[in-house]
Amino acid sequence: MWKPRSLLRSLFLLHFLLLLLYSVLPLVSAQVSNATTWNTLSGNPPLVIARGGFSGIFPDSSEKAYIFGVTASLKNVIVWCDVQLTKDSQGICVPNVKLENATDIAQNNKYKSKSYQVNGVQTDGYFSVDYTLKDLRSNVFLVQGDHSRATTIGKGFEILTVKDVVNTTSPQGLWLNIQHDAFYTQHNLSMKNFIRSVSTTVNVSYISSPEASFLRSIKTDINPKITKLVFRFLGKEEVDPSIKQTYGSLLQNLTSIKTFASGILVPKDYIWPVDPTSHYLQPHTSLVSDAHKVGLEVFASTFQNDIPISYNYSYDPVSEHLSFIENGNFSVDGVLSDFPLTSSAAIDCFAHMGLNAPKKVSMLNPFSDYNLYRNPKFNEKVSLLTLSEFLNFTQGHTSLLGVVIIIESAPYLAREQNLSVIDAVSDTLSKAGYDKPGTPNVMIQSSDSSVLLKFKEKTKHGISSQMQLCRSTHLFRVLELMVSSQASLKQPIDTEGTDA
Ligand SMILES: *[C@@H]1O[C@H](CO)[C@@H](O)[C@H](O)[C@H]1NC(C)=O
Ligand SMILES: *[C@@H]1O[C@H](CO)[C@@H](O)[C@H](O)[C@H]1NC(C)=O
Ligand SMILES: *[C@@H]1O[C@H](CO)[C@@H](O)[C@H](O)[C@H]1NC(C)=O
Ligand SMILES: *[C@@H]1O[C@H](CO)[C@@H](O)[C@H](O)[C@H]1NC(C)=O
Ligand SMILES: *[C@@H]1O[C@H](CO)[C@@H](O)[C@H](O)[C@H]1NC(C)=O
Ligand SMILES: *[C@@H]1O[C@H](CO)[C@@H](O)[C@H](O)[C@H]1NC(C)=O
Ligand SMILES: *[C@@H]1O[C@H](CO)[C@@H](O)[C@H](O)[C@H]1NC(C)=O
Ligand SMILES: *[C@@H]1O[C@H](CO)[C@@H](O)[C@H](O)[C@H]1NC(C)=O
Repeated sequence: MWKPRSLLRSLFLLHFLLLLLYSVLPLVSAQVSNATTWNTLSGNPPLVIARGGFSGIFPDSSEKAYIFGVTASLKNVIVWCDVQLTKDSQGICVPNVKLENATDIAQNNKYKSKSYQVNGVQTDGYFSVDYTLKDLRSNVFLVQGDHSRATTIGKGFEILTVKDVVNTTSPQGLWLNIQHDAFYTQHNLSMKNFIRSVSTTVNVSYISSPEASFLRSIKTDINPKITKLVFRFLGKEEVDPSIKQTYGSLLQNLTSIKTFASGILVPKDYIWPVDPTSHYLQPHTSLVSDAHKVGLEVFASTFQNDIPISYNYSYDPVSEHLSFIENGNFSVDGVLSDFPLTSSAAIDCFAHMGLNAPKKVSMLNPFSDYNLYRNPKFNEKVSLLTLSEFLNFTQGHTSLLGVVIIIESAPYLAREQNLSVIDAVSDTLSKAGYDKPGTPNVMIQSSDSSVLLKFKEKTKHGISSQMQLCRSTHLFRVLELMVSSQASLKQPIDTEGTDA
């Protein structure tokens, strides 16, 4: 699991650097899509919910994660906090009831591990119920709890209270997840009182919990015009400790959920199940439509760019998003995401562009060292894209800024095989009409300067400096395509992929 994640991470960082390069961050946060129609319950675009801020990069729930999450996302991003209570009833944002999961508390011998019942299971760990806010502040720091992610980005971040989060980021929306009301109740701490008190100064947009009894108990305490209650489903075999029923059985009666909640938050595979052995996507369930029929909003969790996803998405997190928000039948009402920038781009840029169409892929497995393989089903219908097919494809997309063509093996092919890649590429470009004014720009990239000099003699194509958000992210998709074909170009057979 480590290697694919680090590879996906570097692809993600490349994406990210390109976005920064073209200064599109302000554009992303400045616009909310006008997109015509959405099959969400309200008809509005789906929401982006930033789990612990931009937790895919920075330590979950840290100031930097929240600030960056808000800056890099759609303007109406909802900021998510996993609330834990301290001994003195302060609500802090830490992703796990065991503080050592995402803080450095276990490295400080001032603190002691304890053993408590959590959902009926005896659990060892460091718990906030044993410490006051003052005990934890300035002594315990948030760290990256997921060790397959970079642990060096962002250190020394103090634990934040819910009010701190609102104060430092002024998010348009705040989502409080109360994962363990029953546990805090055992320790004589009241989540209900905390919600009451925080609601006097802050507008809480959503409160979620996997404990049905907790949501029922606060229903009369919240203003339904400001705060929506969301029932969180965990694994189908897991049991809601407050009512001793499995989530699988609770799913059978959405009408009864509607009596205490206005929405549900479900793992992604409740909507698009993935076959555990083949990793292919199975047909979608009817959950979103069924829930919408009884008036429940549906939120899907958790979207992460750095976890291998079903083959059907070709490892493209945007494509995964599109299957949840734009598939012709339904759209979820929001996505819980560790990478809210990707979610924002999927909603605001890639949706409604017809990009969800299947793509042809090369059969080489350039990333097999990292356990990332091409979809084996495509082995049955191997079809490489020729350069002219590629250019026809790109010409059909008028919003495209340009195409990038990477040429690496030209001298070898000229010398050893008597093939001129340069002639072949420039002929194909002119046949496709790319040498006429008004056509998309063509960028030629090569690590061999003689290739570029030859092209300079032949053509006048340059690089435009005018960029728009959709265009530059679009450009990234082209680059991504090229990155993979560049990797495969090292293998002679794939040079057949051009018109040479
Ligand atoms: C969005 O819709 C409004 C009202 O219809 C229109 O004035 C505006 O130009 C649209 N914006 C974009 C980016 O299409
Ligand atoms: C924190 O919890 C998550 C989810 O249970 C787990 O995957 C991760 O390994 C834990 N990390 C640490 C440092 O305990
Ligand atoms: C919010 O931050 C400001 C300035 O940093 C501070 O003066 C104020 O007391 C804070 N408010 C709360 C509720 O923490
Ligand atoms: C909670 O309060 C009850 C009654 O006041 C008391 O018996 C119990 O020991 C308390 N539990 C804890 C963990 O403080
Ligand atoms: C909360 O929402 C209400 C109604 O939308 C608004 O009038 C009020 O200013 C908001 N309060 C805060 C603290 O944002
Ligand atoms: C589902 O729940 C509703 C409301 O609680 C109840 O009236 C109804 O009988 C339940 N349906 C089934 C099939 O259990
Ligand atoms: C996923 O891909 C496999 C193999 O191509 C295909 O059989 C399956 O129908 C696809 N799943 C969906 C939901 O499209
Ligand atoms: C939409 O629903 C129809 C009928 O329920 C089904 O045939 C079709 O495959 C669905 N399309 C998608 C993209 O899920």
